[in-house]
Amino acid sequence: MFALGNGYIGMRGTHEDMSGEPGSTLEGTYLNGFHETEAIHYPENAYGLARINEFMLNVPNAKCMAVSVDGQRVGLESARIVSYERSLDFRQGVLVRTVEWELDGGKRVRIESRRLVCFGRKHVAAIEYRVTALNFGAALRIEASIDSAVTNMQAGDDPRVGSAITGPALLDDGRETTGRGVIVTQRTRNSGFLLGTGIACAASGVAAITASDCADGRAFEATLAQGETLTVHKYIAYVSSRDVAREEVAPLVRSELDRAVQDGFAALAAEQQAYLADFWAQADVEIEGDDALQQGVRFNQYHLLQSVGRDGKTNIAAKGVTGEGYEGHYFWDTEIYVFPFFLFSKPEIARSLLQYRYAGLPKARERARQMSHTRGALYPWRTIAGEECSAYYPAGTAQYHINADVAYSIRLYLMATGDFDFIAEYGAEIVLETARIWTGIGSYDREGCFCINAVTGPDEYTAVVNNNYYTNAMACMHMAFAASIADRLRSERPEDWKRVAAAIGLDDAEIAAWRAACADMRLPYDEALGIHEQDDSFLSKKPWDFANTPAENYPLLLHYHPLVIYRHQVCKQADVVLALLLLSDEFQIDDKRRDFDFYEKVTTHDSSLSSCIFSIIAAEVGYADKAYQYFLETARLDLDNTHANTQYGVHTAAMAGTWLGVAYGFAGMRLTGGGLRFAPTLPAKWQRYAFRVHVHGGLLEVTVDAGATGYRLLNGEALAFTHHGAPVALSQAEPFKRMESQ
Ligand code: BGC
Repeated sequence: MFALGNGYIGMRGTHEDMSGEPGSTLEGTYLNGFHETEAIHYPENAYGLARINEFMLNVPNAKCMAVSVDGQRVGLESARIVSYERSLDFRQGVLVRTVEWELDGGKRVRIESRRLVCFGRKHVAAIEYRVTALNFGAALRIEASIDSAVTNMQAGDDPRVGSAITGPALLDDGRETTGRGVIVTQRTRNSGFLLGTGIACAASGVAAITASDCADGRAFEATLAQGETLTVHKYIAYVSSRDVAREEVAPLVRSELDRAVQDGFAALAAEQQAYLADFWAQADVEIEGDDALQQGVRFNQYHLLQSVGRDGKTNIAAKGVTGEGYEGHYFWDTEIYVFPFFLFSKPEIARSLLQYRYAGLPKARERARQMSHTRGALYPWRTIAGEECSAYYPAGTAQYHINADVAYSIRLYLMATGDFDFIAEYGAEIVLETARIWTGIGSYDREGCFCINAVTGPDEYTAVVNNNYYTNAMACMHMAFAASIADRLRSERPEDWKRVAAAIGLDDAEIAAWRAACADMRLPYDEALGIHEQDDSFLSKKPWDFANTPAENYPLLLHYHPLVIYRHQVCKQADVVLALLLLSDEFQIDDKRRDFDFYEKVTTHDSSLSSCIFSIIAAEVGYADKAYQYFLETARLDLDNTHANTQYGVHTAAMAGTWLGVAYGFAGMRLTGGGLRFAPTLPAKWQRYAFRVHVHGGLLEVTVDAGATGYRLLNGEALAFTHHGAPVALSQAEPFKRMESQ
């Protein structure tokens, strides 16, 4: 929870001066996108299974500090803790820790550390480390070093944790002492990357400090009088050959360190604060009436900002850069959960997430060919650099909906920003290439319905089924969007149209086939129950015996063979219910209520991606208490460790789902082909809440209290939307309107 990051570097919240039993803590530093590859070995092979796993590597721990007083190491072995406090300030972006130790013999020292990973400097982190002699005068030694003998977590019984690799993954490639610290270079065995890790240190605070090199770092010694403080500033830089050419790795480490040393810790802290002030001015959500939830919401937003890659080459992993759960892989979590948060809060980051998908098109084309599709592109279910890394295909590759999820995010981007330049340059090619997969895998049945067989929908407790409702409905949206993009390009930008159509060999017959498939799409519906069926077979399965399932058997995936789960009516997460949100205009409210009622009874929410979606639909269909309850489950999921696995990293999709719960849920915001709308409600416990959205070139602030909703245009020319169906128009001349609650 105290992990720091800047979308590239991720440092777990472990202490600089770690001591204690080996294994008592989980040390980790990660670089978004920096990975090793390993062949996946299947005891029983099959054609086309994912062959290569890409996994995020634990990189050298450059935050290590060690303190000794009169030669005695300060740590749990030889000292006791008198007081301890740690805090992470979301406005400063600095992790602060103060600990007072009493050594054997009664000498007391206070250690104060302030640590930051620079939002504005991709490669840089820094630590201010202050040691004060409280009740004595003595010789003090502080060592600042790099621990480069790091390893990844080993896979155990939980399929969500650990990698197959054992022992150190990074091979030494050189070491250079610089007079201020050290630069260590290493290389990966298989993925062929070079990594440079460097530190530069300086001490101050007392006269007569002696500095010298020590193992992988720098040592500072001074004799402190009682009350005196020795301060060490340690600047850290990580650069890999994923970022720059190999020969530039070490020079960039050096120059980033030089610049940081020259500017100093105070300047880095000021930059950090300025970056965050700008972020919160756009993204802050205020909640009055529940401090625990307020903290949860901001904590989640802050972690999303720390975790998200923003260079077009990286994305956001399921656990961000905070832990090794899911091996640093990127999933659909990005497009369906995280993307809308950034789109409405910091659109330039949303755009770079789409650029990442554009960069992945060649690999997605290759994957489509491996899967016997003669045309088009199929995105990997889980990946870092574009390879399909999903070794268990029923809950992996079979989730073809990833293609529609990516298209959905591009459609939302276009609706929110109107940026058709981006579509012409990048988006169209993605949407058109990925749409082709649907006519590739679908076929017409005897009744003339277009069917998509043998896929898995979002719910991973139901696998390899025919006509998953979510997949079919999203494929339909996808093909219709692709056809409309083709039309618009052709009429508005004929040159771009020619270029794209020629590059991918797209003709009119194919576009007509999309429209036809969409019109004839099979969308399972059960007339008797009046609900959308999750797939062709879902309702004929045996209901799961929830009454006789002990609490300790959840999550089910850790206690039952997949086939046992697949044979039952039981869901891990929102599936049809998610379609109700994403394709909101295609359903009547009564349909939504019936679907909610049915699927709520069969859903375990074993996936952290589920509760937020149920919260949003509960709010929409008028179940205020349920909406609040599901929201609570999402908003403090990591703070309260409710899934009991936060130690492997935070749950970024759920974190973004919290924001969705406020905007889409309580405030009823939807952006669809029909325009922008709000239908705010105020949870009974709250006095007021407010949030901001970037939309249609403006920044809109929405404030909901007991009597009314205030809409304020903070910047932008004009904005039109509806409030509970009533039209609202804001302009520079009239930037604020207060609308009565319903
Ligand atoms: C969920 C998937 C999700 C993945 C990574 C799984 O437990 O079922 O929907 O993409 O976690 O967050």
